[in-house]
Amino acid sequence: MLGVTGSIAAVKAVELARLLAGAGHNLRVILTGAGSRFVGESSLAAASGHPVMSLLFGDGPAADSFAHIELARADLLVIAPATANTIGKMAAGIADNLLLTTYLAASCPVMICPAMNHYMWHHPAVQHNIRLLDRRGIIVVPPEPGVLACGETGDGRLASPQEIFCRIQALLGEKVPGDLEGLRVLVTAGGTREPIDAVRFISNRSSGKMGFAIAAAACRRGAEVTVVAANVGLSRQPDINYIDVTTAAEMRDVLNRQIDRIDILLMAAAVSDYKVSGTETKGKLQREDKIDLQLIPTSDIVSGLGTDNTIGLKVGFAAEYGEEEIERARRKLNQKKLDMIIFNDISRHDIGFEADENEVTVITGERDVFISKRSKEECANRILDLVAEAIR
Ligand SMILES: Cc1cc2nc3c(=O)[nH]c(=O)nc-3n(C[C@H](O)[C@H](O)[C@H](O)COP(=O)(O)O)c2cc1C
Repeated sequence: MLGVTGSIAAVKAVELARLLAGAGHNLRVILTGAGSRFVGESSLAAASGHPVMSLLFGDGPAADSFAHIELARADLLVIAPATANTIGKMAAGIADNLLLTTYLAASCPVMICPAMNHYMWHHPAVQHNIRLLDRRGIIVVPPEPGVLACGETGDGRLASPQEIFCRIQALLGEKVPGDLEGLRVLVTAGGTREPIDAVRFISNRSSGKMGFAIAAAACRRGAEVTVVAANVGLSRQPDINYIDVTTAAEMRDVLNRQIDRIDILLMAAAVSDYKVSGTETKGKLQREDKIDLQLIPTSDIVSGLGTDNTIGLKVGFAAEYGEEEIERARRKLNQKKLDMIIFNDISRHDIGFEADENEVTVITGERDVFISKRSKEECANRILDLVAEAIR
């Protein structure tokens, strides 16, 4: 069930309806009165393949007196775009139109995709309502930053129909057809460990969550996915091929073996820059007053891959800290001859290493795309939107 409300972004609901109907969903659309000022019923009817419903009491297709109860038995209710007005009424339990009445009667998961002017989005009342709905289990697909219909810049743009579609497919356990279908994707994830002796090691705080989220999203979008996992303790899914490694050298060897069966390489693992010299000869070091460890650089995996391979798109990750961090990431893009680099600010504790959320800037030779703070799953989908666009 797709609810469309009175935002200027309502026209984008036509594209979303087309994607959903195209994927084989039995889609019905409810359009609010204000929504019908922005998008034509006939466009939505053509895209969804069914007449559009608007009236709670009316003679349209929902004239059946208990239509809202029937409609509420959907598998999923998505409201895209969702206005500040509709969000407020949902939070307050007001049911003065067909969409809101259906929402209150619904027992299925509900997803809202807000779209509005950024001052409206940041208004304490709207933010309060969003938090309230989030606590009640409603899935909120946050708006994106950019130039808004009113000409101002800020966050408030409806998430892209493709992203909303991917979120819906993921929620319903379906694959997203098309955009990575048939492509072989290799993702590195986690943090390598460099031994100090037989039992101790040097490593980093990477949990592998971002890499695993990218792998899962790529798999849903139809790719054949291999993950080279460095010390990742997260759960695994049967339709992904996992290769476990411990050290940077092992990761390099696996990549060199896989190099001619990769179309897209995403290097999300945090690979040690240094290893301890001469560990082969040591058993377990005994406690002494002082031990000097000599650290020597590991070889740079991406640069070592060269160009004589099948890889069509190379994506690196740059975890940077301190001043001019984004410039350092940009230099890595050129030095390592990558097509794209994902810059991560690791000076923050709320995103990146170990966190469930991330905020990144995707840097390509032509442009920077900022992906505001969101779950690593959503972030993965946004990154893959750009990857799919670039490989096409
Ligand atoms: C040109 C124009 C654009 C609008 N765009 C938005 C919008 O993007 N988001 C929003 O929350 N409200 C927007 N509004 C206000 C809503 O249309 C208004 O609050 C309406 O009552 C929403 O009704 P509904 O939630 O039942 O669809 C806009 C109004 C106008 C006149």
